[in-house]
Amino acid sequence: MKGLILSGGKGTRLYPLTYTRAKQLIPVANEPVLFRVIRAIRDAGITEIGVVTGDTGTEIEDAVGDGGSWGVNVTFIPQDNPAGLAHAVKISEDFIGNDRFVMFLGDNVIQGGISSLIEQFAHSQWDSQIVLTQVPDPQHFGVAELDDDGDIKRLIEKPKNPPSNLALVGIYMFDSSIFEAVKNIKPSDRGELEITDAIQWLLTNGHTVHPYIHTGWWIDTGKPLDMLSANDHVLDEMVHEVSEVADVDSASEVGRRVTLQPGARIINSTIRGPSIIGDNTVIENAYVGPYTSVYHDCVLKNCEIEHSIMLEKSQISGVSMRVVDSMIGRNAIVGHTTRLPKAIKMNLGDYSNFWMP
Ligand code: TTP
Repeated sequence: MKGLILSGGKGTRLYPLTYTRAKQLIPVANEPVLFRVIRAIRDAGITEIGVVTGDTGTEIEDAVGDGGSWGVNVTFIPQDNPAGLAHAVKISEDFIGNDRFVMFLGDNVIQGGISSLIEQFAHSQWDSQIVLTQVPDPQHFGVAELDDDGDIKRLIEKPKNPPSNLALVGIYMFDSSIFEAVKNIKPSDRGELEITDAIQWLLTNGHTVHPYIHTGWWIDTGKPLDMLSANDHVLDEMVHEVSEVADVDSASEVGRRVTLQPGARIINSTIRGPSIIGDNTVIENAYVGPYTSVYHDCVLKNCEIEHSIMLEKSQISGVSMRVVDSMIGRNAIVGHTTRLPKAIKMNLGDYSNFWMP
């Protein structure tokens, strides 16, 4: 089997972070979501992986390289414009050939990996296997209606009146019949070739599509709050460790479920887990609360932060109020000034958010 990861798209719901960075490279518990996807596919025994890229293709290629870091071969497949998930499949036909394959959205995080799913599909006669999970708001997803035997009756993209609460998770398995399907569907009202329509085409034309109901957590990291939820789940489940070359002074208190990466320095501070502090990050006279990921080369001084994600080389210093539920981009500075007038001073990028209590 081969793997296909969709890593193009626009990421508009994650502006401003995705103005300057591919959304799939935003880290969750200090590892980019895309790297987690590559690992999940590799752990399922697949070594040939195609990565569909868009405007951020160069950045994705630089970060992933040839796949050697994971022991896989990566082929990049540029997509001219984000014309839909089924369009991404269409342009990948040469790479996939006649192989069966798993398609994984490069911004999705799922509990428990996908090895058993892949094995099940690889040994089956099914033309496709889709993953479904119960969601509270099915009108925002592709939704499946099942019959009394648990077989799929039909699929609908973002239905106004959902026939069930079973949404399609961003992991799909196909054989080459999907290429006929994507050539036979028309763009939806939003102008995209929808994968839901392509799978419905398979069903209508007598192909077997097997539904797998996933009961663990699954997160499409489309919006900032989703990113924070994915971070919560991963920090909760990971095995935490303190690097031998991290430094904690005697005045600091570091909780049990805290990961300190190489070169992290903790000075007169309290770190509560689950949380992770990145390479060469310095935390001084500060409090880092649960569910916080601070990436590499950051500085936190005389401040408090909790339930947040900080990207690399960002700084918070001298802020008297606790920072919570926040995502802070690369090289961002949150600071303190003693200059008058006593007022808030901002230098926010387009589409930034700032909330005052
Ligand atoms: P989406 O989250 O559906 O789309 P998007 O990335 O454009 O996000 P937004 O709605 O915030 O603008 O995409 C899911 C994944 O599939 C994501 O990793 C991007 C990728 N993708 C492609 O590679 N090609 C495409 O044509 C589309 C629509 C998405």
